[in-house]
Amino acid sequence: MTQPTQPAQSPQPSPADHVIVLFGATGDLARRKLLPGLFHLAKAGLMPRRYRIVGSAPAAEALSDQDFRAHARQAVAEFGRSRPEGPVWQEFESALSFGSADPAAPEPLVEAVRAAEQAVGGTPRRLFHLAVPPVAFTSVIELLGATGLAQDARVIVEKPFGTDLASARALNGTIHAVFDESRVFRIDHFLGKEAVDNILALRFANGLFEPLWNREHISHVQIDVPEQIDIQGRAHFFEGTGTFRDMIVTHLFQLLGFVAMEPPVVLDAQSLRDEQVKVFRSLRPLDPAHVVRGQYTGYRAEPGVDPASDTETFAALRVEIDNWRWAGVPFLLRSGKALAEGRHVVTLGLREPVLGMFPLNARAAVDGRSNELVIDFADPGSITARFLVKEPGPSMRLAEADMVFGYRSSFTADNSLEGYEHLLLEAMLGDQSFFTRSDGIERLWEVSSPLLDAPPAVEPYAPGTWGPDSIDALAAPHRWHLPDRR
Ligand code: BG6
Repeated sequence: MTQPTQPAQSPQPSPADHVIVLFGATGDLARRKLLPGLFHLAKAGLMPRRYRIVGSAPAAEALSDQDFRAHARQAVAEFGRSRPEGPVWQEFESALSFGSADPAAPEPLVEAVRAAEQAVGGTPRRLFHLAVPPVAFTSVIELLGATGLAQDARVIVEKPFGTDLASARALNGTIHAVFDESRVFRIDHFLGKEAVDNILALRFANGLFEPLWNREHISHVQIDVPEQIDIQGRAHFFEGTGTFRDMIVTHLFQLLGFVAMEPPVVLDAQSLRDEQVKVFRSLRPLDPAHVVRGQYTGYRAEPGVDPASDTETFAALRVEIDNWRWAGVPFLLRSGKALAEGRHVVTLGLREPVLGMFPLNARAAVDGRSNELVIDFADPGSITARFLVKEPGPSMRLAEADMVFGYRSSFTADNSLEGYEHLLLEAMLGDQSFFTRSDGIERLWEVSSPLLDAPPAVEPYAPGTWGPDSIDALAAPHRWHLPDRR
């Protein structure tokens, strides 16, 4: 009799009963991501058995419970994956209430939370989601401390996690005065993408890839997140932020932590985050000479943008990790607005074999981008191994070939969660694996200091391109995988 080779899959753990409080409930993030995301979790049967969601905002923007429900319905209709109707919607809608909060007048919120807790019954967990702009952050944290609402509660914190080392330290100090680190969930939606889990699976569940995942076999790594969209009217936000802070420190460095990490001792939050932070500690401080800052032509004419603005809408960097696994292997990072395509791609370039057995002319058609492992983490993503094969025919000619695994063609997407949905669920489960830790954040700002202190001048690029021309020299002797030949 054959024995099963796999233990049965463990069932999806279910979160304990919860009262979730959304600060910034009338804002853009709640509308686009949080309310639709929570409803999707309800549809997927992943919300706690009993829960309530309390929206909050300053008294000047207060809504009645009724209006908040209408607001949520509108948000789900506009941005959700399923329509706000049927019994699941009715149950979700009846779990919504509103309580305004100002530092001098927190009572409506305190009362709404108490009422929600009573409605849930027992001692539900409290989870605060701070979808508020940085200026409001300290006062909300202090309010949670002063009212006692913070007691035993968890808190989800939205980026930016500071804008430099000093502000990141100050922010962490503010948070830690009220919440110890074990209750803080700094959310980076890139870490909620399936691809991050999949990088772990690819590396650590197979005998094929991990043995190659080091300086012996890999010549360079690219983490490439071009965006086709421009700043979409967000001049006020973007002028003070720029691509380096908005995308690189936040999202791309976080991905780099997972691509480059050592195998964790076990797959739990502490081990994963320890390994991620070890990567950050090994990062060499950024050299401004290895950074290209770009600005798309026309940016300075956008409404709300300073006509002499030096803010970058594009950043490309070559960074190095000083550890035994990666010494000497350049990591190329790129992101920017108004580029040719919107993509999310991690590419590992494999070294050439040590001896060139095949005559040079056998490789005439090859452009130097064979020998690559390409992880495309669009939702749903794909993994491609690109290599050389013999072209059929009498002579020994080499041609490029792709071996592609595509999520869409291999699995149903029904069970997939978007970044925010995945992370909201993890926060309710109390699992910090895919949330950033304070020491990691501070280290990233520390290595960024030389660049922030002496940024190179911005170089113009035409919208619809791949950025300033100088990025080719940054990547040399390698070349950017994108644009790819599809
Ligand atoms: C956000 C940035 O965090 O991420 C935006 O503020 C950016 O500027 C967005 O467009 C990209 O996210 P995604 O998941 O669409 O690639």
